[in-house]
Amino acid sequence: MASKPFFLFSFFLLFLLLPISSLPSTLNLWPQPTSISWPTSAAIPLSPCFSIQPHFSSHIYLQRAIIRYTRLILSERHRPIIPPVVNLSSSSLSSLHLSISDLSAPLQPGVDESYSLYISTSGATLTAATPWGAMRGLETFSQLVWGHQPVVPIRLRIFDKPLFTHRGLLLDTSRNFYSVRSILRTIRAMNYNKMNVFHWHITDSQSFPIVLPSEPELAAKGSYGSGMSYSTRDVKRIIQYGLSHGVRVIPEIDMPGHTASWAEAYPEIVTCANRFWAPTGKTALAAEPGTGELNPLHVNTYQVVQNVLRDLSTLFLDQYLHAGADEVNTACWETDPAVARFISTGGTHDQLLEKFINLTHPYITDTLNRTAVYWEDVLLGPDVKVRPATLPTESTILQTWNNRAKNTKRIVQAGYQVIVSSSDFYYLDCGHGGWVGNDSRYDVQEAEPSDELFNDPGGNGGSWCAPYKSWQRVYDYDILHNLTEEEAKRVLGGEVALWSEQADETVLDAKLWPRTSAAAEVLWSGNRVSDGIKRYAEATDRLNEWRYRMVRRGIQAEPIQPLWCVLHPGMCNLEQ
Ligand SMILES: *[C@@H]1O[C@H](CO)[C@@H](O)[C@H](O)[C@H]1NC(C)=O
Ligand SMILES: *[C@@H]1O[C@H](CO)[C@@H](O)[C@H](O)[C@H]1NC(C)=O
Ligand SMILES: *[C@@H]1O[C@H](CO)[C@@H](O)[C@H](O)[C@H]1NC(C)=O
Ligand SMILES: *[C@@H]1O[C@H](CO)[C@@H](O)[C@H](O)[C@H]1NC(C)=O
Ligand SMILES: *[C@@H]1O[C@H](CO)[C@@H](O)[C@H](O)[C@H]1NC(C)=O
Repeated sequence: MASKPFFLFSFFLLFLLLPISSLPSTLNLWPQPTSISWPTSAAIPLSPCFSIQPHFSSHIYLQRAIIRYTRLILSERHRPIIPPVVNLSSSSLSSLHLSISDLSAPLQPGVDESYSLYISTSGATLTAATPWGAMRGLETFSQLVWGHQPVVPIRLRIFDKPLFTHRGLLLDTSRNFYSVRSILRTIRAMNYNKMNVFHWHITDSQSFPIVLPSEPELAAKGSYGSGMSYSTRDVKRIIQYGLSHGVRVIPEIDMPGHTASWAEAYPEIVTCANRFWAPTGKTALAAEPGTGELNPLHVNTYQVVQNVLRDLSTLFLDQYLHAGADEVNTACWETDPAVARFISTGGTHDQLLEKFINLTHPYITDTLNRTAVYWEDVLLGPDVKVRPATLPTESTILQTWNNRAKNTKRIVQAGYQVIVSSSDFYYLDCGHGGWVGNDSRYDVQEAEPSDELFNDPGGNGGSWCAPYKSWQRVYDYDILHNLTEEEAKRVLGGEVALWSEQADETVLDAKLWPRTSAAAEVLWSGNRVSDGIKRYAEATDRLNEWRYRMVRRGIQAEPIQPLWCVLHPGMCNLEQ
């Protein structure tokens, strides 16, 4: 690693350059806690025998977190970019006492994640309602320890709880494959950022990488091949790892659209499988290459779908089960003779989708006792949609991605709870340029007015959702924008999304981090200081610090500024 000596050197430089005494004492935490008070700027050394003392009988997942954090706290030796100026006293901190009021609370939607932390000369105490809140507090404590000879602030009080109960990240493991190891690393980084939902978009048209006990052929034939699928053991490992890190794992099997990969095992239930996606002069058969959709009129479809859903509910513990339902393409359906007959005799596309939902939604909610999550398309279209009566508000959650705040408002007004993933702010794949091949639009030096969107240097360059969503874009997004107080209550939270057309594990960390950290903070404690002003300027310095800390923890997050800016605080701001 050629960069390491330079990295260490730069931190050494830092200590020489900065006029230490003139700096304010700030503690750089990420996400920023709801309330923090440290009036004295006093700190004490961390005892080399420091330990975490639980005041409860053992808890399998919290126990693992305690072991992990003890090790991290004793070994990390983080060098802050701007070391806080402290009054160091000589006593040392040897323990953190941890107590929890409800040890049995499961990790489920809406679980209490609040905690309070108090550190004094005589000891530190962390109090939480649940083990999951305790994990958030342990993370905060780990970020409070710094220095080669580690110190911790004292006479410090933190009270903290999240603004939103759903703070998620979506990863698409179908378009490109990710090893279990890279998924576990992602969950670990989510835990550092106090995020609590890993939305696993497991399958799509391109591949079917999960081995399901009742339908093993789907992965045997529909995955990218040996070594590129997830066994039952892999899935259990990911879920257990999630529990040890306070991260729920919500599985998504997208259907009835985005299912070309099912055709390898079951060609009879998939319409328009593996055709050319955009025939000239005809309607495209899919939004992108990889065509195929489950046939709503084929009786075998429901046998396979029920097996898939039942296996999912057995493997995954979470109350939520995501069943997709986005971007159904009617032209693809109509390539099937039975569907074409249905339409030509007066049937509608909406009825076809409604039939599919009628035969699968109650299976998810009544038979499997799960809450069904769908993409907003199922209710809003634009091309195909069901009537609200088909989707009971008490057992259905909708996830928005289109049309900024407008669709979120429509959905909460219709009475549904919502998860916000606006593509204008939260899609991490955007702005990377086009990826379809043989595209003659690149073969132009000066754009025609009609083609400016694509070819103009200021255009989208082939990425439908360009530009790239910078961390500032993510950070400044208000998911409750334009909602009334009543409407806002139905917003569970948000998820950033990495669709994987141009991503796999070789670039994963840099695509996700630190942009996902920006969402993590906003969903935890918002993006404003108490008087309502956005805090992006202050957040820049803290995020710089946090990015370096994540890198030291093994997460290859990308830099957000030249090192020069980091070394000259405030000098790179646009406004002073
Ligand atoms: C250190 O403590 C002294 C005496 O209490 C106080 O005057 C001074 O401001 C403190 N220094 C800092 C950096 O807080
Ligand atoms: C779907 O179910 C609803 C509610 O039971 C019913 O009114 C509707 O006719 C069904 N739609 C179709 C296309 O079967
Ligand atoms: C259904 O799920 C809920 C929430 O997880 C649980 O409280 C309830 O006991 C379950 N019902 C059945 C019949 O399993
Ligand atoms: C905000 O809400 C109003 C209705 O309350 C609606 O007319 C308007 O289009 C919304 N604006 C945005 C940007 O969503
Ligand atoms: C690229 O597209 C052109 C039509 O514009 C076609 O003639 C040519 O065969 C295509 N090339 C490849 C390699 O597919």
